[in-house]
Amino acid sequence: MSKNETDIIFILVLKRHQFMVKDPYLILLIILFPQVISDFDMTLTRFAHNGMRVPTTHNILDNRLLINEDCTKKELLNTYYPIEIDAGRSTEEKLPLMVEWWTKVHELLIDQRIRKDMLARAVKESSAMLREGYKVFFDHLAEHHIPLLIFSAGVGDVLEEVIRQNHVFHPNINIISNYMDFDHTGVLQAFKGQLIHTFNKRQGALSHAAHLRQVQDRPNVLLLGDSLGDLTMADGVTDTHNILTIGFLNDQVEERKESYINSFDIVLVKDETMDIPNAIVKYVT
Ligand code: TMP
Ligand code: MG
Repeated sequence: MSKNETDIIFILVLKRHQFMVKDPYLILLIILFPQVISDFDMTLTRFAHNGMRVPTTHNILDNRLLINEDCTKKELLNTYYPIEIDAGRSTEEKLPLMVEWWTKVHELLIDQRIRKDMLARAVKESSAMLREGYKVFFDHLAEHHIPLLIFSAGVGDVLEEVIRQNHVFHPNINIISNYMDFDHTGVLQAFKGQLIHTFNKRQGALSHAAHLRQVQDRPNVLLLGDSLGDLTMADGVTDTHNILTIGFLNDQVEERKESYINSFDIVLVKDETMDIPNAIVKYVT
């Protein structure tokens, strides 16, 4: 395809979507040595499908195969998720509450003695779904040897199983997440390393991404996220030249629109597809 044809397709895709872009020329700046850094839950996965919420990696674990009926994990979600997305609270205010949520959930999961050999079945039985157009996105990046760093405050073992079962776990992918630590019988006994929640990705980036060579070699970043906390995911790349940020605004749209427009370069409103990221990665490769 000629550059002209790509230009036309690119503009058409952008026009078809309800989105806002601060500076269209930013897109051109990530052409040389690009990499993609993306959040997972509600960014690479859909937020909803046919009016039903799509499960996060944490919610995939809410399966009788893994946890008892009386486990209070869902009640914690009902308490803390509204706080996570509350436009009226500052990040500083949310921080200790997120640590509290994640710590309680990890403890509950350990109490439930989750079995490693049941994870793949739980993913298969779940309604987990990557965004429409995900295959083009993952395959195109792999084909063009563009590194994809997936940075998730979810559960790494479940995340890996989701992308494996969707046949897109390619060699260009690195993952930073909360990984389960199983004992010799395959029962969950702890979580490995420093806890990652939605608003401490900067610390995770500095301690993990700083050691990934592929990440350091690529100064131009396309960053995808659904939370303002995701904006710090590229902080582990020491020498960034340009960062183009795309924010998926899935929930509490009116309340959060202004802060998303002020924080991300492109904001996608209730868009369940990868069309815009796909148009951009195709344009820059
Ligand atoms: P992410 O960093 O991949 O988006 O994963 C974090 C999301 O996980 C966050 O937006 C809230 C969600 N979550 C649940 O759905 N259930 C839980 O129990 C916890 C702790 C988080
Ligand atoms: Mg997310």
